[in-house]
Amino acid sequence: MGDYVTGVAVVPGRAGSVHLTRLARPEPGPGQALVRVRRVGVCGTDREIIEATFGTPPPGSSALVLGHEVLGVVEAVGAGVGAYRPGDLVTATVRRPDDCPSCLAGQSDMCTGGRYLERGIIGLHGFMVDRFVEDVRYLVPVPAALEAVGVLVEPLSVVEKALRQADLIQRRMATWAPATAVVLGAGPIGLLGTMLLRARGMAVHTVARTPPPNPAADLVAACGATYVSTRETPIAALADGLPNVDLVFEASGAAPVAVDAMRLVGRNGVAVLLSLTGGDDALPVPVAAINREFVLGNKVLVGSVNSAREDFVAGVADLERFATRWPGLTERLITTRLRGVGDAHRIAETATAGVKTVIEFADD
Ligand code: BGC
Repeated sequence: MGDYVTGVAVVPGRAGSVHLTRLARPEPGPGQALVRVRRVGVCGTDREIIEATFGTPPPGSSALVLGHEVLGVVEAVGAGVGAYRPGDLVTATVRRPDDCPSCLAGQSDMCTGGRYLERGIIGLHGFMVDRFVEDVRYLVPVPAALEAVGVLVEPLSVVEKALRQADLIQRRMATWAPATAVVLGAGPIGLLGTMLLRARGMAVHTVARTPPPNPAADLVAACGATYVSTRETPIAALADGLPNVDLVFEASGAAPVAVDAMRLVGRNGVAVLLSLTGGDDALPVPVAAINREFVLGNKVLVGSVNSAREDFVAGVADLERFATRWPGLTERLITTRLRGVGDAHRIAETATAGVKTVIEFADD
């Protein structure tokens, strides 16, 4: 290992500025681990950063190293680290706390101060780099059996949090036994949400534009959910044909679909909004009907961002469940593999191809 590590960076605010950068080789201090990166996932947030609608570099730098979905191997640990040893597989949480009451209470995903940082997104370099150093309290162990799919723990943690929020909200009900769910969007978040809700025993209807056959529709069918193309079945027709919808996950990435989520959620149900949408799109909406339906139906609309360490831990356990229940299925979410940082300029061009793009880092 030389004196430098190589990372994939952008200049936030400058579209199409993906480039390779060199950072000083990091050394683990007390309570930290040096992690060699195996695989990094690319998601919609990375694309927004590449398109210059999101993202902030660390102080003193014009560039931001991308990457917040990581699977790596512990290579060395600093003083006082007993929980990890070289060779352990790990992932890492994304957000780092500020000093607000929520963060001090260990809930940085519910930060009220708004001065949080996020690796690869806001104010901290990310994981799209040969090696990084991290405090071990932000690492999450991944069993060796999940080597092929452990890079999906972070996106899965986002839907784990969404479901945890719904379960917490529904403590208002003496009987919360969700039976019917609708997932809007069949990207990685929509598909992982579909698998999670199927694993919880719900009948799941996953809605996307593209008619079948396509890889997302195959994945939906393979876990026993129903794929609905809005080109074939308009949302209103879907709503008419369903029993009471207990839970909606909106993960389409398209702002107007939030209105569909509000129209679809049933009596005493919860609709969770998960799409980060840029721009200032406006839309006329049937406010009287939506308001009436929400009041008469005790409905809840909630936004959910980021995820807590407990959601990562739940994600690891659920990836193990998925592997037992649907062998090989989770692997099929990874449809595009880029080889090493040298191939990283292709991130933007592979952005819309397939389901999930990952960057494979070479063993050295
Ligand atoms: C990440 C979250 C993050 C959010 C907003 C998402 O892509 O998964 O961890 O909080 O972007 O920055």
